[in-house]
Parts: sequence; C-alpha cells; structure tokens
Amino acid sequence: MNPLDLARPDILALKPYASARVLADSAGILLNANENPWPPPGDDGLALNRYPDPQPPALRHRLAEEYGVDPENLLITRGSDEGIDLLTRAFCRAGQDQALICPPCFGMYALYARIQGAGVVEVPLIEKDDQWQVDFESIASAPDCRLYFLCSPNNPTGNGMDPNAVTQLARRIENHGLVIIDEAYQEFSEQPSLIEHLDDCPNLVVLRTLSKAHGLAGCRIGALIAATDIIELLRRILAPYPLPTPSIRAALAALDNASQRRRQLDEIRRQKQRLIEILDQHPQIHQYWPGLANFVLVRASDGPGLVADAASAGIRLRDQSSQPGLADCVRITIGTKTETTALIEFLKRWRT
Ligand SMILES: Cc1ncc(COP(=O)(O)O)c(C=O)c1O
Repeated sequence: MNPLDLARPDILALKPYASARVLADSAGILLNANENPWPPPGDDGLALNRYPDPQPPALRHRLAEEYGVDPENLLITRGSDEGIDLLTRAFCRAGQDQALICPPCFGMYALYARIQGAGVVEVPLIEKDDQWQVDFESIASAPDCRLYFLCSPNNPTGNGMDPNAVTQLARRIENHGLVIIDEAYQEFSEQPSLIEHLDDCPNLVVLRTLSKAHGLAGCRIGALIAATDIIELLRRILAPYPLPTPSIRAALAALDNASQRRRQLDEIRRQKQRLIEILDQHPQIHQYWPGLANFVLVRASDGPGLVADAASAGIRLRDQSSQPGLADCVRITIGTKTETTALIEFLKRWRT
C-alpha cells in the first residue's frame, strides 16, 4: 500500500504555501518578500535580512550524505521534535486515529498525539534479566494504530532493538500504519541504523537529529528520512521558513567536523565507563542500565532524593520516577571528564 493512502485526506488536498525565498528565486534584485534590503549590524555575511530557503539544498545534500540516502528522501526539520509533530499532524485524524508508544519512552510522541486529538495506545517495554525489550508480540495484537513510535537507542532505558523485528512489524501493519524509528542517539551506539531498510519498507520513517552527538541542541536541526511521497506530503504542512540562517551555517560546519565528533564520542564512552565503575559498588544504587546512548539509567534507594541532593550539590539529573516501571529511577547524562569527576565525588558521599 502507498503510505499516502494513510494520510489525512484534508492534508492531501491542501495546496502548500509557496515560499518566496527558494534558491531558484534568490538571485537578482529581490523585491518579492517584503524584506529589508540592508543586513543588520554584525551580519557576518549571513544575509539575515533575507528569509532562508525552507530546505536549503547544500544542507539537504550534506545531511543526505551523512545518512547515506538521497536528498529527496530527507526533510530537514527543527529538531526531531518537529518531525514527530509533522507526522502526527499529517497522518492522525483527530478523534479517529491512534499512535502507539512503548513506555518508558520519550514524552513527545504521546504529547503531540494528544495535541492533535489522536488516541494513544501504550504497549510497555518488558524488563527481563536487566534488559529492556520491545514487546513486538503485544504490539502486533494491539488495536490498529496509524503511527507506531519506536526509539533506538531508547530514551530513557538505552536499549536498542532487533532491526528484523522492526521491519517485520512494518510489513505486518503496512495496510494501516507507519513505523517511526527515532534514532536521536544512534551515533553513540554501534548498532546499525534502520535507514538501510527504508527501500524495503515504504511505511518506515527514521528520525535523526544534530542535537546530540553533533552538539547542536541549540540550533534545532533534525532530519526526517522516508519515502519521497511522505517527504513531499510533510512539506505541505511545514512552516514557510522553518530553519534559521545561523542554524543552517552551524549545521554545515558541524557536519564537516567528523574527527572532533569521533573524539567526543570516544571520550563519552570513557566517562561512561568511569561512572559505571562507581555505580557498580554503590550501596544505594540498586540497579542500572548502561544502555547504548550518552546516558545511564539508574534505580536508587530513593530516586527523587538522589535528584534533589545532586541539585543541592549543583548537579542536575533527570528524575524518571513518574514513568511506568521506573520507580526511583534517575537518568544521568554523560558529561566531560571534569563533570564526571564532580558527579563521582558527589556519589561517593551520597548516603554512604
Ligand atoms: C528520543 C528523543 N527523540 C527526540 C528528541 C528531540 O530531539 P531534538 O532536539 O532533535 O528535537 C529527544 C531529546 O531529548 C529524544 O531524547
């Protein structure tokens, strides 16, 4: 089935806004977008007085190269958050369609579904032998949903998943839904990306971001990778000029800095190992999941107490206690060597 058959009919019928500032129209005397003809002070060659191209070809090509896909299969978004929002708005009819999530997971899947008026079906992860796993059998027998959100490595549990199980799911639900794989933390793991399965599964969508491994959370740049029909559909509901010019420049610079990124990823692995060594011996840490990403999930004797005491020591951790199955759990992001040393010093003193 063509994934477009699953889209909201009113979105399919929309005539998209035609932006004034696409590359083909940006040469010559620019009197078509009611812009100020003078750049602002400190412009630094950015031409900030001009609207940016909605999908700047140089960045689209560079991201496509980074992820090993054709530019036509990639939509640049304001972080992967926007990718989740666009998919939900384009595919879920309010009051009729549902999105499936596997908690504990990233909160924006359910939030965007609810904002859109879609239902949310929960199929919790299974925790077995200190491993978190997606319950693919229960997903297959759950009510039909329009969007199936999976995340690998998953936030906050850090687990990956079997790519074959994901593609089997995509095939099984292809008549009524899309499988969305959120790979926000892919660079930290050594697992293969689901991107290589996109050609076999037209109802598979992969979300990537420059917010994590590329260090650009403040720029809001992500990529949604999917069949061209899906990309063209989502362009219809994209904001007219979504990507700020400084973010486009910063993204191009970051993508060209692969050697620094590799060094940082190695350093994060080293610091994670140092943290794990202390977690292993700590009497108040009852369980931990190192996971495949740049964070560790721990279960403490008193999770909220750990977060509050760390905050008093100037260290911010993320309480996960309110997520299903995560009583007393805390997510700890891996920082620099100095930051990890401070965290270790704090942990050595914490209720020991
Ligand atoms: C699993 C997951 N997906 C998406 C996002 C959002 O990332 P972005 O900054 O690209 O919007 C996050 C942010 O923490 C995340 O953990």
